[in-house]
This record gives sequence, C-alpha cells and structure tokens, in this order.
Amino acid sequence: MSPNPAILDVDPGHDDAVALMMACGHPDLDLLAVTTVAGNVSLEKTTRNALRILSLIGHTRVPVAAGAAKPLQRALRTAEDIHGESGLDGLEIPETTFAPDERGAVALIADTLRASPEPVTLIPVGPLTNIALFLREHPELKEKVSHVSLMGGSIGLGNTTPAAEFNIYVDPEAAREVFASGLSITMCGLDVTHQAGAGPEERERLRSIGSAGTVTAGFLDFFAATYERVFGFDAPPLHDPVAVAAVLEPRLLTTRPMRVDIECESELTRGETVCDYHGVTGKPSNAEVGVGLDREGFFELLYDALDNL
Ligand code: BDR
Ligand code: CA
Repeated sequence: MSPNPAILDVDPGHDDAVALMMACGHPDLDLLAVTTVAGNVSLEKTTRNALRILSLIGHTRVPVAAGAAKPLQRALRTAEDIHGESGLDGLEIPETTFAPDERGAVALIADTLRASPEPVTLIPVGPLTNIALFLREHPELKEKVSHVSLMGGSIGLGNTTPAAEFNIYVDPEAAREVFASGLSITMCGLDVTHQAGAGPEERERLRSIGSAGTVTAGFLDFFAATYERVFGFDAPPLHDPVAVAAVLEPRLLTTRPMRVDIECESELTRGETVCDYHGVTGKPSNAEVGVGLDREGFFELLYDALDNL
C-alpha cells in the first residue's frame, strides 16, 4: 500500500505531541507538512512545541508553519490547566534544531496540496481556524483534499463547558465553516477519544518501547495528573492520536453518518456540535461521527508506530 499523504494541524499540547510522533512513525502515512494554531497555549508556544517534538525524533525535514494566533472572531481561550504553562509541561525536552517555514500555515497547506500528485488528507487536532482560513482563501483547492479526520466535538458531554468540547469551543465559527464545506469529514469527538485513556498499564508498555515511547509515557504522566485533578479520570485520553489512527486504520473507528451543526450564538451552548444521531432534521449528513473505538487495536497501532522512531 502506498503511504497516505497527510497534513497535520496541531496545537501541542501533550496529546498533539503524541499524534505527531505517531504520524511520523507509521510507514502508511506520508506526513507532508505540519501547521500550528493557537489553542492549548499561544501560537508562539504551539509552534515551538511542534518544532521541538519533530527535532527530538529527528524529523526535521517536515516543514512546519505557524498559522492563526487567534480564532476567527473571538478572543483566544487556552488550556494551561490541562497542558501547563509551556503547553508541554512535565518533561524537559531540548530546544528545536530547525526554524519554521516562513510561508505561514495557509500558504504551506495550499502549496503542499498543489504539489501533491494525489489528494491529501487533512488531520486537524486543534481549533479549526487554519482550516477555515485555508478554505476561504483557496476554495479551488478543495478537490485536492481527499478527507478531513478531525479531533473535536462530542455527541454527548463537553469538556470545556457542559455542552462543548475544547477545540470547537475555542473557534466555533471556524468549525461551522469547515462542517459546512462539503468536504468528507470524520469527527473523532470525546465519545471515542475518551475510550483511548492511557492507564498505568499502557504507560508501562510505552516505557518499554524505546525513546519515543519513554517520552510519550513521560508526557502522559503529567497529563494523567491533570486529568485526574480536573476531571477525576484515572486514565488521560489520547484525544488527538485517535484522529491519526482513524486515517491509518479506519476500521478501528465505528462511525455513523450524521448532520453536525455548530452552535455559535448561545451563551450556554456555544461550541456544541449538534449531532443529528437519529436523523430527525431530515438534513443530509455532513460527517461520519465516531461512536466506537477498538481500544486494544488503537493502542497496538500506537505502540507499533512509536517503535519505528
Ligand atoms: C482537545 O483539546 C485539547 O486540549 C487537546 O489537545 C485535544 O485536541 C480535547 O478536547
Ligand atoms: Ca489538540
């Protein structure tokens, strides 16, 4: 099988960092570019973190470009309570050995799509600001996007407000534009990412599989402490790697076609992904929404990918 060409849009973030390493480690994915967005922490920090992770694993030939420093219309809300001040607290990792690509995220996405002989998968795992801006500026390149596998949203509970998941809450207007774009979308929301919790057993296994596994386990030790303090979870969810896994092994994710509309107006439910599970609106579906995850298969895929680094 020839590798799936993909662009990862991230806001690292512990789980973003694991998603980056997973994408670099798996031979079935050809990571053409990485773009960064403000989310978990400021754009300056997410960009530094993406560069540091790629430096650490020696993947410095992947171009990394900084994108939006704030959401389309709103002030940025960050998540230091979950990821710490740096966005990657808990483990000291060296400084970057390479510089960001000066074109910026939207131009890098556009140039990468133009240069690719085949359509490319987009994997956004932060707020959808960069993807919305790309679609506004380059609607003609939509046909070069084969699929979007995104981490965001929830059919059920939120994690930032009772109704909203973080990535969609931060930039609901961008999410509305992406879900209305007509692109083929898989939504990996909290319903499935909460099934990817890395408990003590998984973290022990990670420690036994080389330096990328040890780094991942180190990040997850910090993430475990914050998830326990903030949410009372005993295993921190590997949210963003689920969106990568859905590209590598689609059968790991059980999905259901649904109409997903984004609430942008209400004070109470802003950022909610309103998923028409039972098709009561009669509107056509615009996303395959994750409803189940093969948890064991997901972790095996992660171990295999990290083992290659
Ligand atoms: C999402 O929010 C961020 O904190 C994580 O990196 C993930 O993308 C989970 O709601
Ligand atoms: Ca993220």
